[in-house]
Amino acid sequence: MPKKLRIGVIFGGRSGEHEVSVRSAGSVIEAIDKSKYEVVPVAITKEGKWLAPAAAAELLPAATQRKLSAQTLGADRHDVAIVGDPSRSGLTTLGDGSGQRGLDVVFPVLHGTYGEDGTLQGLLEMASIPFVGCATLASACGMDKVTMKALFKEAGLPICRHTFFLRSEWEDDRQKVLRRLKREIGFPCFVKPANLGSSVGVSKAPDSASLARAIDLAARYDRKIIIEEMVDAREIECAVIGNDKPRASLPGEYVIHEESARFLDYTEKYASTGNVEFIVPARISKSLIKRIQKMAAIAYKSIDASGLSRVDFFLQHNGELLVNEINTLPGLTDVSGFPKMWEATGIPFAQIIDELIELAIERHRERARNETSI
Ligand SMILES: Nc1ncnc2c1ncn2[C@@H]1O[C@H](COP(=O)(O)OP(=O)(O)O)[C@@H](O)[C@H]1O
Ligand SMILES: [Mg+2]
Repeated sequence: MPKKLRIGVIFGGRSGEHEVSVRSAGSVIEAIDKSKYEVVPVAITKEGKWLAPAAAAELLPAATQRKLSAQTLGADRHDVAIVGDPSRSGLTTLGDGSGQRGLDVVFPVLHGTYGEDGTLQGLLEMASIPFVGCATLASACGMDKVTMKALFKEAGLPICRHTFFLRSEWEDDRQKVLRRLKREIGFPCFVKPANLGSSVGVSKAPDSASLARAIDLAARYDRKIIIEEMVDAREIECAVIGNDKPRASLPGEYVIHEESARFLDYTEKYASTGNVEFIVPARISKSLIKRIQKMAAIAYKSIDASGLSRVDFFLQHNGELLVNEINTLPGLTDVSGFPKMWEATGIPFAQIIDELIELAIERHRERARNETSI
């Protein structure tokens, strides 16, 4: 039997999406083919501390923990780290621990800041460990909603009207910022931290008073705040995997049953309120499915994505499509769209994970072809 590949699944993280990441990691560890892969869980706490596999496993549901091999977890509870030195590539045990544990591939199952935004990816590139998902540049571009929209625009993709400002500008002169936003965007509008996800810090603002409150909230999460015109539209998503030749899944659609679900906020996304349902395929024409798949691939390439991403669209009532955003590490929980869309396209999640690991190795080899001396 061929040797099992050792996969480091890193989850948690210093992010407003910490809890979502723990759920995503649970789903990945449940689904991954354990006859082919040995899973080494590594957790990053909300404070940024890296926990050893034995301690990381305890953050997962009991049933998932039982599926991990006790031998792989080990008993050592010393903190671990990945250092940016290729000769130590893998997990380095800190303190009095017993040294080094090699990892063949890292699967960063982290959403939001310090995980999806290129920071961890930069560390993994320094360490020369193959890893699943977008590399540093695409991760950073896909995380920042302002940069992402600039790249979409450059690629000829339709996007909604928006503008942005910095927290320091808001703190210096609130009235000036409000005046500009009223002039350039108007009401109702959406206010978001530029770098986050899962709707954390996102609000709809119908008037001036709520706009100021919404900005105060968003400014807690980021130094850059984006304001968009409100788009009255159906929300369609499309999953993409691949490196240089990306493939798009059948699109899915969020159907909102209750008016009380004003938009897809954090609760609606993860609490299974029953107010929203994710349907695949989206109830749209075949030609629109094709257009969405094509646009998803263009969005993917526009940020130089690799591995996986999910591209989210607004389908306006007049039939116009807008690209809302790309998520380079989309939710992978039991209720998330990405695995469901591939499932409906005929590829089970375990096989998607297989492909993602192969893509990680392929990109690593491709990168290794670059000369680093002259
Ligand atoms: N411009 C907009 N018009 C209408 N609804 C929006 C707009 N922007 C965001 N929303 C709503 O808020 C949700 C979260 O916003 P999104 O841009 O997707 O941020 P996140 O990265 O947090 O998912 C969207 O799924 C949608 O329901
Ligand atoms: Mg979104």
